Amino acid sequence: MVSSEKPMLKMNQKRLLFTKLPLMAFSVLMVIFIIFNLYIKNPFQHSSNVQNYPSTKRFNLLIGILTRADKHEHRHFLRLIYGIQSSPIAQIDLKFVFCNLTKQEQRVLISLEILKFNDIIILNCSENMNDGKTYTYFSSLPNILSHPYDYVMKADDDVYFRLLPLASSLQPLPRSDLYYGFVIPCQSMDPFVSYMSGMGFVLSWDLVEWIANSDIPRNDTIGPEDKLVGKWLNLGKKARNRVSNKPAMYDYPGMNGRCSHELIPETIAVHKLKRWDQWLDVIQYFNVTKDLNTSKLYNGLNFDSVFNLKM
Ligand SMILES: *[C@@H]1O[C@H](CO)[C@@H](O)[C@H](O)[C@H]1NC(C)=O
Ligand SMILES: *[C@@H]1O[C@H](CO)[C@@H](O)[C@H](O)[C@H]1NC(C)=O
Ligand SMILES: *[C@@H]1O[C@H](CO)[C@@H](O)[C@H](O)[C@H]1NC(C)=O
Ligand SMILES: *[C@@H]1O[C@H](CO)[C@@H](O)[C@H](O)[C@H]1NC(C)=O
Ligand SMILES: *[C@@H]1O[C@H](CO)[C@@H](O)[C@H](O)[C@H]1NC(C)=O
Repeated sequence: MVSSEKPMLKMNQKRLLFTKLPLMAFSVLMVIFIIFNLYIKNPFQHSSNVQNYPSTKRFNLLIGILTRADKHEHRHFLRLIYGIQSSPIAQIDLKFVFCNLTKQEQRVLISLEILKFNDIIILNCSENMNDGKTYTYFSSLPNILSHPYDYVMKADDDVYFRLLPLASSLQPLPRSDLYYGFVIPCQSMDPFVSYMSGMGFVLSWDLVEWIANSDIPRNDTIGPEDKLVGKWLNLGKKARNRVSNKPAMYDYPGMNGRCSHELIPETIAVHKLKRWDQWLDVIQYFNVTKDLNTSKLYNGLNFDSVFNLKM
């Protein structure tokens, strides 16, 4: 192209300056712009684009534990349980989620918690279980978070998640149109039959945005929260990617029929931890305190030896 234009250049150099040069400069700028875009991407772009390839990239996950404002002491315990865990392949942020504060005592104590831990989300709702809190949670997130996440979990406050195996199980999965958890009914091994248990399920960010924007969930918020999420996704023909992680997720032995089984080493989540002896059993079984160092400060004791006294 350039060579065929050469005679013309000689014939009319002035004209070239005013017509061709700006065009060439523009083309060069466009090429630079395209190269720039190929290499420098918005760090959050991958989370909202539809990309269904398994990724080995580090990803981020928000775990929202739905609880009640008054459960200060339980939150402190859960902060310990999750504060000592992390995963090299995922940024995992933990938040406690509840509705409007109703008492002066809550306003003072929760202000202290926020100052110290900054891990609380207060939704604009009245405290409820099956009256739309889960809808309010997901639909509020795009507005209240400063950035999106690849995945968002809704979890109960009586479940123990092991973050390393959780992150490893999510890493190879699609980053969009994903619905992950423990499928109900208990004996079902088909992630499409029917919905993920409220113990803890994960949605990819595109589905969180869909919940925030679609009329389907907005019109249908009253009822068992976990079952409703499955219903919305089915009605919206969403969540073509579904994963039910059995037997790695389950209810504590003896707590819930066929949803329960014995503790197993490959566990991701144990649900229905209602009593201290159950939490202690789980902490001990998974060797959570095994890295405790001996020190003169605690008289040579470590947690394992204390726990072993009961056996
Ligand atoms: C909170 O919810 C109430 C009742 O649904 C509504 O009237 C109000 O506008 C909401 N406030 C905000 C800040 O969204
Ligand atoms: C929650 O509290 C806010 C601020 O006090 C209030 O505007 C809102 O109406 C309350 N929402 C509900 C659902 O009670
Ligand atoms: C939701 O409810 C509104 C108002 O009742 C109605 O106009 C709309 O069609 C409903 N949408 C769905 C998806 O049901
Ligand atoms: C806990 O530690 C014991 C002793 O080292 C080991 O045999 C067991 O497999 C560990 N349990 C788990 C769940 O990793
Ligand atoms: C225990 O001691 C080891 C080796 O001295 C050290 O690397 C580790 O950080 C200590 N762990 C704790 C919880 O202090």
